[in-house]
Amino acid sequence: MSTFPIYRPRRLRGNENLRRLVRETALSIDDLIYPMFVVHGHNTATEISAMPGCYQYSVDTLVMAAKELAALGIPGTILFGIPESKDPLGSEAYADDGIIQQAVRAIKDAVPDLLVMTDVCLCEYTDHGHCGVIEAGDVQNDPTLELLVKESLSHARAGADVIAPSDMMDGRVGAIREALDENGYENIPIMAYSAKYASAFYGPFREAAESAPQFGDRRSYQMDPPNAEEALREVALDIQEGADILMVKPALSYLDVILRVKTEFQVPVAAYNVSGEYAMVKAAAQNGWIDEERVALELLTSIKRAGADMILTYFAKSVVEWL
Ligand code: PBG
Repeated sequence: MSTFPIYRPRRLRGNENLRRLVRETALSIDDLIYPMFVVHGHNTATEISAMPGCYQYSVDTLVMAAKELAALGIPGTILFGIPESKDPLGSEAYADDGIIQQAVRAIKDAVPDLLVMTDVCLCEYTDHGHCGVIEAGDVQNDPTLELLVKESLSHARAGADVIAPSDMMDGRVGAIREALDENGYENIPIMAYSAKYASAFYGPFREAAESAPQFGDRRSYQMDPPNAEEALREVALDIQEGADILMVKPALSYLDVILRVKTEFQVPVAAYNVSGEYAMVKAAAQNGWIDEERVALELLTSIKRAGADMILTYFAKSVVEWL
């Protein structure tokens, strides 16, 4: 490569059309998945205080929101459910008349083309708020797998297009893949939350999903934030077990992990721009301290540039407006 004064990098920055031509990364509507929360009840949409613009919907208003997503051209949504009541084994998670199962059926009925992904986890449904079966004060891995399999199958029966396990139990992707295949759902993809960290950035989500752990924390199953090689091992396992899309979560503090996953394994990578990442931007923007549109687009573009093929983000609807 030639050097200054022959090479002057500023030459290609001189005007917007030049910049457009040499731009390396383009964020697009095609990259977006919009997360939504659903509760029991009728005709309600309760705004989540730490996530302005995001709501807990009842099934009927959720269907209206789903229609809006389809009209905006957003490819898909991922759903989180808040049950009527919680118990130690999170039984509504795998009930065929549970809130998610009702929501999936209603959306697939009204807006069949919108991709409906379902988060498979127990923390919203258990009274202790952990992502699995508790014995001796900790989440038990293998007994939890059985419940996650039941939950995945009930989502598939309701019509879910993609199953997304977020619990971080060992072996869950393989167990779910096998059960889906045995029951005729071999064409339903699994989007695995493969590198999911025990992050403080989930704070607002736990208000939204009413899923904060009632004792302890999630560090015995979610990953330790300082680790990146371990993320590659988690991803390798999930690929072997049959995952189709591999997720890194959160996104912004883990851009290095996104890059390494994409470089090491040429697989579809999803990144979750989580609730705390959204809340920080919203709060600063509401104070007039930053420009929401520019900051959000810069952040989402950085996730894409790091190697994400798709982004789960609460900004999805705004992005369509901004682009
Ligand atoms: C469920 C789950 C969580 C999120 C997605 N699925 C919370 C958690 O693990 O505590 C977080 C999403 C967000 O913060 O936006 N296990």
